[in-house]
Amino acid sequence: MTPSTRPDAAAATAQPWWNRQRPSAMPVHRYRQPRAAAPLEPAQRSWLGTPLTRAPLWSSVDLRDGNQALANPMDRARKLEMFRLLVRMGFKDIEVGYPSSSEAEFQFVRDLVEADLIPDDVTITVFTPAKAELIERTFDSIRGTDRAIVHLCHATACLWRDVVFRMSPSEVLDLARVSARQLVRLADRSRQPVRFQYSPETFNVTEPEFALEISNLVADIVEATPDRPLTLNLPTTVETDSPDYFADQIQWMHRSLERRDSIILSVHPHNDRGTAVAAAEYALAAGADRVEGTLFGNGERTGNVCLVTLALNLFSRGIDPQLDISDIGAIREIVERCNEMPVHARHPYAGDLVFTAFSGTHQDAVAKGLAALDAEAATTGRSVRELPWQVPYLPIDPRDVGRSYEAIIRVNSQSGKGGIAHVLRAERGIELPVPVRVEFAKIVQRVTDVTGHEVSSVKLWDLFCDEYCGIDSGATVRMRCDGGGTGDVVVSLPGLEPIAVPAADAAADLVTALGEQGVQVELSELVTGETGAPGTAGSQAVAYARIRTPAGERPVWGVGFSSVPALAGARAVLAALRRGGVLAERDQPAPLAAREAGR
Ligand code: KIV
Ligand code: ZN
Repeated sequence: MTPSTRPDAAAATAQPWWNRQRPSAMPVHRYRQPRAAAPLEPAQRSWLGTPLTRAPLWSSVDLRDGNQALANPMDRARKLEMFRLLVRMGFKDIEVGYPSSSEAEFQFVRDLVEADLIPDDVTITVFTPAKAELIERTFDSIRGTDRAIVHLCHATACLWRDVVFRMSPSEVLDLARVSARQLVRLADRSRQPVRFQYSPETFNVTEPEFALEISNLVADIVEATPDRPLTLNLPTTVETDSPDYFADQIQWMHRSLERRDSIILSVHPHNDRGTAVAAAEYALAAGADRVEGTLFGNGERTGNVCLVTLALNLFSRGIDPQLDISDIGAIREIVERCNEMPVHARHPYAGDLVFTAFSGTHQDAVAKGLAALDAEAATTGRSVRELPWQVPYLPIDPRDVGRSYEAIIRVNSQSGKGGIAHVLRAERGIELPVPVRVEFAKIVQRVTDVTGHEVSSVKLWDLFCDEYCGIDSGATVRMRCDGGGTGDVVVSLPGLEPIAVPAADAAADLVTALGEQGVQVELSELVTGETGAPGTAGSQAVAYARIRTPAGERPVWGVGFSSVPALAGARAVLAALRRGGVLAERDQPAPLAAREAGR
């Protein structure tokens, strides 16, 4: 086999004997740049271990950062659909676009203003780079609004100063100064209640002292006050370090900013290392008040932080997210349509598979957890929806976000009897006796092992009926009523005299009558019940009969359903006779499971 590491390389000396990994040939030397000094001494770090206790101010940047990252940016209709969704969900702070970037972006803002589509409690934000003519155009876009935030942004990090702008730090300070003054001038001229946002883009790789200096400068120029605070938005424009490092940066800014009480401290984590959610949560613990992100994490490269995940993480710890995510499927559908991009099947809370268990042990535990909640609800007289959620492997009740139990447990070759029993209980209302569960799981396993595919709940039901419920062809079962409210079960079997037995104990009496005609079987167990809640519409009687034949080594189960309990019992006996081959019908087709497994 081809070695996956450099075969000539010696084992790293620091590794223990049981770790046989070898150095790779990856060009790691290209990435050994020193990390900027952490501004916070470990002893000052108070965010670690600080639990979140409330929702931050959420700011959606779906319509700006998210939109900028799309192959086909949203047209005005799609932008409006997204805007309406955000409003419905409860966002009060929505960045609606980058009006100076295109006519369509500009017009969208005009649409919102002119058609009066912005609810009174929602503040829109418009984004502008630090260029005089673009700032002018941005102000033009919000003419006539009751309230808006103008968001000024330029990069501050050394690499950008040197390579992109070719500016010294003091020239970048000048850029911020001139642009912030222009904001103030245009806001005064417009006589509108405009507020300001400032983002030192590339904050996370900017020297902390420089980021602080430029932020204090802008806060001074716009004369931030508690009544007219500046939103200071600190991005990980490209996520380069671990979330603890970002939290230290935020805590240091939080403690060092001069006008802290006049600043809404915001973070804008991107997800290049896949740790944007952790970065946002730690940053909030470190003093941030606001988080910018998008629904399901759309955004440049690996995306912005996913606000749905952040919100539901709070929810799952008993903290009101102050967003309505009670129908995550509908939200996802709109976002997928607007972004023309699917949400991954494993995306937290929203993906197709995130409330699904395939593995047998997980299925068993989920099924037991759900059953325990049902039992608690029955004994306390409360609805399951009121009880504290405690189900293994499910962080929240899928129904709380509008998802159903149906897809929770799915059946493939990894599944077990608990999951199969759960699917039949949830979808068909039947409670399989334990020996039937064990036996049927093996039958299903044989099918899934051969096909390699998942078995849908419909297919599972077909397999079950075909295996356990069929009776010999030519056999019939019916009721004969005597008019006095009682009756007989009448059974016809090919080659035998018709049998009539009292309905009261039909299954046992049928077996006795068969014995009298030379068919020697023993009814060793009969389990009866109802499908679904007893007495509810559509519920049926179900019977599980286990018979022993003199020749058979193992007892055989058969299952019968009927609206009449006596007929269900008789059918279960006949189904077991058929499965055991007692009447030796030769022209019966092999059961479906055998056909599937033999394919
Ligand atoms: O990622 C970023 O730095 C940005 C800024 C505009 C905040 O999107
Ligand atoms: Zn961004």
